[in-house]
Amino acid sequence: MRRRLAAGNWKMHGGTTSLTEIHALTRAHPAPAVDILICPPATLIEQAARTASGSAVAIGGQDCHPAPSGAHTGDISAPMLKEAGATHVILGHSERRTDHGEHDTDVRKKAHAAQTTGLVAIICLGESLAQREEGSTLGVISAQMTGSIPDNPTAGKLVIAYEPIWAIGTGLTPTPAQIGEVHGHMRAALTARFGAELAQGVPLLYGGSVKPGNAAEIFRVADVDGALVGGASLTAEDFSPIISALEAS
Ligand code: PGA
Repeated sequence: MRRRLAAGNWKMHGGTTSLTEIHALTRAHPAPAVDILICPPATLIEQAARTASGSAVAIGGQDCHPAPSGAHTGDISAPMLKEAGATHVILGHSERRTDHGEHDTDVRKKAHAAQTTGLVAIICLGESLAQREEGSTLGVISAQMTGSIPDNPTAGKLVIAYEPIWAIGTGLTPTPAQIGEVHGHMRAALTARFGAELAQGVPLLYGGSVKPGNAAEIFRVADVDGALVGGASLTAEDFSPIISALEAS
């Protein structure tokens, strides 16, 4: 059975007062039927991991450098994330691709570093609105998967998040049929490249304007194993019903 995952991406939001949201999540979901992850800003990872210690809530990073250490001002390596208490890391988010010019080859190296360190790599991909409108969505997804997923990925340490760029932070979401088409395509591409056994074990997340009000509908779509949630993960009040919807799916 594939693990289901409700993952929150806090992006560049939150300070020490936000740790109360993690504490609230641990109390609201003491024995969840799904995996729960919060990826706070790097400055909060260690404190967040301490807050969540002994609970079912895992803590992750939002990026890592491909190298374990070195002269890379401002960067954080996978072993550093792990030492701070992270078990997962989001890689190749469209905001990193846009803000920092990250390409699939960078994401692939980072994912390799994360997996070598024992972290779960959550690789993000998704099409722009122009690409969707010109009908190239599946081709874009295929190319991103080929480019950003390392060869020989570690089973159990790989998660893929489909995040259409036009749905992130906009309140727009694809239809269930559109999500299902991409997720089915991703599962088939994983199967073709890595074989059915590995492919069947990879959780496929949907991300982009997931809210308490639309989560249940999205989680009913075949091959959707959870969500990567931005804005609605910032408070336990919003994130908790999304977790519950995933548990009920
Ligand atoms: P959103 O962000 O839920 O605020 O749309 C999703 C994401 O970027 O992971």
